[in-house]
Amino acid sequence: MAKKVKKAFFCQECGTESAKWQGKCPSCGAWNSFVEEVIEDISTQKKGDWKSPAFVSDTKKVGKPVLIKDIAIEEEERVATIDDELNRVLGGGIMPGSVVLIGGEPGIGKSTLMLQIALSLPTKKVLYVSGEESAHQIKLRGERIDKEGGSCLILTETNTQQIFTQVEEEKPDLLIIDSIQTLSSSLLEAAAGSVSQVKECTAELIRYAKETNTPVFMIGHITKDGNLAGPKVLEHMVDTVLQFEGDRHMSYRILRTVKNRFGSTSEIGIYEMVNNGLRQVSNPSEILISQRDDTLSGIAIGVIIEGNRPLLAEAQSLVTPSVYGNPQRSSNGFDSKRLNMLLAVLEKRSGYKINFSDVFFNITGGLKVEDPAIDLAVCASIISSSEDYPVSSQICFAAEVGLGGEVRAVNHIEKRISEAARLGYREIYVSKYATKGLKLDQFDIRVTEIGKLNELGDLLF
Ligand code: TYD
Ligand code: MG
Repeated sequence: MAKKVKKAFFCQECGTESAKWQGKCPSCGAWNSFVEEVIEDISTQKKGDWKSPAFVSDTKKVGKPVLIKDIAIEEEERVATIDDELNRVLGGGIMPGSVVLIGGEPGIGKSTLMLQIALSLPTKKVLYVSGEESAHQIKLRGERIDKEGGSCLILTETNTQQIFTQVEEEKPDLLIIDSIQTLSSSLLEAAAGSVSQVKECTAELIRYAKETNTPVFMIGHITKDGNLAGPKVLEHMVDTVLQFEGDRHMSYRILRTVKNRFGSTSEIGIYEMVNNGLRQVSNPSEILISQRDDTLSGIAIGVIIEGNRPLLAEAQSLVTPSVYGNPQRSSNGFDSKRLNMLLAVLEKRSGYKINFSDVFFNITGGLKVEDPAIDLAVCASIISSSEDYPVSSQICFAAEVGLGGEVRAVNHIEKRISEAARLGYREIYVSKYATKGLKLDQFDIRVTEIGKLNELGDLLF
C-alpha cells in the first residue's frame, strides 16, 4: 500500500512502544504482551481524515504569549442533561468540546447509559456511532428504555474516516462512540483495538471535538485487572475519565470520576439497573440498608463518604466456631487484609476470643467500601455476631480503628452525623477525638463519643 512503512512493537496492556520484540514489558511487567503493529507513515494523509478548513489555517498560525490578565474568560455554557447523577460527575453538565471516556466491565451498562443520554436530549442532535451492535439491536434497547429520542441518529460504522464524512454532513451537537476499541482509522494498517489504532482514533476524535466544540463521549473496555484497555496515554489524552462500576449480579452501579479537567474528581453518581434501563438513585442510603427487625445479630450500620456524599452502608458478620483447625475468613465488599487486622485488634485489645472462629463478612448491596470510617461498624457487627446479641437498628457508627485499639477520628464528621440524623437514626458512635469544636446538641441525634475499642461492648450491650 504505502511506500514508507513503519513498524513497531506495542505492549497490548499499557501501550509501551519498542523497536524490537520483548518477552516482558519493561514498563508494566506484563509477559508476552508485545505485538508488532504496522504503522503507515502518517505524513501521507489520505482523503477523508478530519481536517476542517479552520483547523488547517489554525496550524499555520504562530502562537504568541499573552498576558494572563488579558485573557478574556468566556463563561462556557455546559449542557445539563436530565440525568442529575451524570451532571454531577461531569462537574455540572456536558462541557462543549470536551472528550469524555467511560470505562467499565462488559455488561455493566455503559451502552445503556449512553443510549439513555442520547435519547433524553430531545432538543439536541445526537449521533450515536456503534461498532458493537446493529441498528436493530440498538432500537430494541431503545424500546426497552422507553424513550422517544426524536433527534437521535444511529450510525453503525467503525472506520473513522467514514464516521467523519457522516459527521460533517449531519453536524451533531453530541457524538457518542460505542466503543473506541472497535474503531479503526485507514491511516494505520494495524487491527482495530490495537494500541496504535486506539491512540490514533482517539487523537482524531479529540481533534474533531476541539475544532468544532462538539462534545464527544467514548466508551472504553477495561482489562481483566480493571484498567482501561489500551494505552494509559488514552487517559491522559481525554478531558474526563469516568468509571462505571458495580457488581454485575447486583443492581447498583456507581459512576465515578477518575479524571476531570472541568470539575472535581471526588464525585460519584449512583444508578440502579431496572427493567427499563438505569434509574437514578438520589437517596442511596435508604436503599443500601436492608429492611430488618431488631432481633438479628451481626449487623451494624456505618456512615461512609463516597465521593463527596455521605452514605450509610450495612456491615454484616457471621462468627461461628471453626470445625477445622484452620479458621476461615472471607470478606465481601471490604478489604480482607483490613478485616484480619480488625479481628486481631478485637482479639488482642478487647479480649474477644475469635481466633478459632470462622468469620464471614459482607457489605450489603454489592457496595465496595474503602473508607476507614466503616471500621467501627465492622467491629460492632463482629462483636454482635460473636456474642449473639443484636445492635439496635437505631444506632450507626463512624470511626476508624487503629492497631492499638484506639478509636480514631475521621474527616467530614459533621456531614456524617447530619446524614445519620436525617435518616432518622437515634444515636451515632464517633471517636472522642472527632468532636472538638463541635456543638453536639445542634444535631438531632445523640452523639456518643468513644476513645477505645474495648469500651464498645459495654456501651452497646
Ligand atoms: P449494556 O449497556 O449492554 O452493557 P455494556 O455496554 O457495559 O457492555 O448492559 C447490558 C446489561 O444490562 C444486560 O445484562 C441487561 C441489562 N439491562 C437491564 O437490566 N435493563 C435494561 O433496561 C437494559 C437496556 C439492560
Ligand atoms: Mg456495550
